[in-house]
Amino acid sequence: MRAVGVIGAGQIGSAIAKILAESGRWVVYASRRKIYKVEGLRDLGVHLTADNREVAEKSNIIVLAVKPYKVIEVLEEISDLTDGKIIISVAAAVPIRRIKAVCPRAKVIRAMPNIALLVKASFTAYSKDKDVTPEEEALVLEIFKELGYAHEIDEELMDAVTALSGSGPAYIATLIEAMAYAGLKVGLPRDFSYLSSAYTVYGTAKLYIESGKHPSEIKEMVLTPAGTTIEGIFYLEESGIRTAVMKAVEAATRRAKEIAKALNDK
Ligand SMILES: NC(=O)c1ccc[n+]([C@@H]2O[C@H](COP(=O)([O-])OP(=O)(O)OC[C@H]3O[C@@H](n4cnc5c(N)ncnc54)[C@H](OP(=O)(O)O)[C@@H]3O)[C@@H](O)[C@H]2O)c1
Repeated sequence: MRAVGVIGAGQIGSAIAKILAESGRWVVYASRRKIYKVEGLRDLGVHLTADNREVAEKSNIIVLAVKPYKVIEVLEEISDLTDGKIIISVAAAVPIRRIKAVCPRAKVIRAMPNIALLVKASFTAYSKDKDVTPEEEALVLEIFKELGYAHEIDEELMDAVTALSGSGPAYIATLIEAMAYAGLKVGLPRDFSYLSSAYTVYGTAKLYIESGKHPSEIKEMVLTPAGTTIEGIFYLEESGIRTAVMKAVEAATRRAKEIAKALNDK
């Protein structure tokens, strides 16, 4: 079996280690400094250690899941062990060229998953360095598919991806909360309000993905002349919901670029 090592077993890293270990298709190593915080991973068969070099040495694929400002420091620690290996970095803001500068003979994939990977429903966008072979990319895709859905994107667009699908769960959670508040306002029980709002978001997304219908078509399927839905849509449009979302993503993209500049100009 192939060995995957996760360095930085925090929120994202430990979820990746857990999913890969549970799949039974990978030997999984994982590291962080405070390993007592993720002891439960051992029960799933994850080889847990505080030694990043041990993880790098024993793995064919290294998943780097530390915070962006730690990436270079960790890479410098393991660089002599990365020749010919695949490094998947899920860190925001750190470009492939900086990873290659420290690990020139590694094959680098830069990925932006989202927190929905906790339930294997991540949208993971990725870019690859020119040295990654089709076979290596296929191997990486096997990992990404365990986490949800994956799609390649030009690295130039990674800040925009970070702002849309990376931050996206926070926007959608806000929408679910807003819908649940609305349910409370019209007298629905609390648990019912949250659950029905969440399932409505989930079901609509599933309908779009599986039917291929454009969102405007899905809307048309629900809108009846002089009915209830158009009454609600009128107020959503009046409040500028689309421009609010567009402004939010545009601002988040600007911020992602600022953070990347501050980190990489050092
Ligand atoms: N959270 C998201 O929604 C999200 C989405 C997409 C991408 N990302 C990216 O994923 C990365 C991790 O984010 P996160 O939210 O999972 O952060 P996190 O929970 O803070 O995880 C980072 C982990 O790195 C460990 N760490 C720190 N220094 C280390 C070192 N020298 N060697 C080994 N491990 C070390 C920390 O544990 P110890 O202190 O015990 O070492 C920590 O648990 C970030 O780069 C972020 O940009 C996050």
